[in-house]
Amino acid sequence: MKALVLSGGKGTRLRPLTHTMAKQLVPVACKPILGYVMDHISEAGIKDVGVIISPETGEEVKRYIGSGRKWGIKVKYILQSEPLGLAHAVKTAEDFLGEDDFVMYLGDNLLSYGIKAARERFERERPDALIYLKEVENPRQFGVAELRRDGSIKRLIEKPSKPPSNLALVGVYIFTKRIHEAIARIKPSQRGELEITDAIQMLIDMGYPVMSEILEGWWLDTGKKDDLLQANTIVLDEYIGRALKGQVDKESEVVGRVDIDRGARILRSRIRGPVKIGKNAVIENSFIGPYTSIGEGVMIKDSVIEHSVILDGSEIRGIERLEDSLIGRGASVIKNRDRHKAYRLMIGDDTVVEV
Ligand code: G1P
Repeated sequence: MKALVLSGGKGTRLRPLTHTMAKQLVPVACKPILGYVMDHISEAGIKDVGVIISPETGEEVKRYIGSGRKWGIKVKYILQSEPLGLAHAVKTAEDFLGEDDFVMYLGDNLLSYGIKAARERFERERPDALIYLKEVENPRQFGVAELRRDGSIKRLIEKPSKPPSNLALVGVYIFTKRIHEAIARIKPSQRGELEITDAIQMLIDMGYPVMSEILEGWWLDTGKKDDLLQANTIVLDEYIGRALKGQVDKESEVVGRVDIDRGARILRSRIRGPVKIGKNAVIENSFIGPYTSIGEGVMIKDSVIEHSVILDGSEIRGIERLEDSLIGRGASVIKNRDRHKAYRLMIGDDTVVEV
């Protein structure tokens, strides 16, 4: 079995971060989402991995995954020159996939359990597609499944205006080579994309067996700020243990599950976990509260921060309380102490500031 990881697309819902970075590389607990995806593929024992990249962010994705040796896999990069849909991505990868079965994993999806059990079930029961479903509050934003009483799939619809259920299609699918036949028969959707949901529906219409399973663990589509903060919360809760590799001075207090990387320094501060602090970050005279991830080389001084994600190289100074925030790379948030109290902003495109 091969794997096809989708790491193209535009990431419009995560702007402004995605003006300058691939959405799949946005970190959760200081590790790119794509890193968790690669972990899952490697744990499932899959060695041959095709990674779909876009002209805009392909180089950055390549720099992160490299040869794949870190995960014990062999990687082939496949350029999708335009974002024409998930099924179009499969078409683009046809030469790489050949006649093999493959798992398709969307690079911005984060799952609690990996895909080992899914692979085993697929190989035991041999359907032509195995899909995962999960109940969501906002089914209009996803592909949606309508099931029959016996649990078999009646119909699949992409982003329906009147969803027949709240069961969304999760971004992990396993296919046999039959999916290529189905893709060859579908037409672009209203948003102009070849939808994988339509291709799976086509498999059903062609009489091929398609199985589904309701996903037990959590699943996060990290497309938006609040989803990303939620992902950060869950991952910190589940994966972060106590590890103090950096330096903590005598006047500081570190409570609970806090993971501090090498070269980081905590000076006259309190940290209350779960918290992850990246390499060479400096926290001075500050309080860092639960569910916060602080990237490499970040500088935090005289501030209180909770439930936030601060990306690499940013600086936060004199901020009395920063909550539920997502701060991009190399950004500065600084209290101005002039008598003349004014906000002075230089804000990127599509940014939200609440003051
Ligand atoms: C895609 C699929 C959709 C699926 C979702 C999962 O949506 O088209 O069926 O539910 O991924 O993340 P997109 O991210 O392209 O809007």
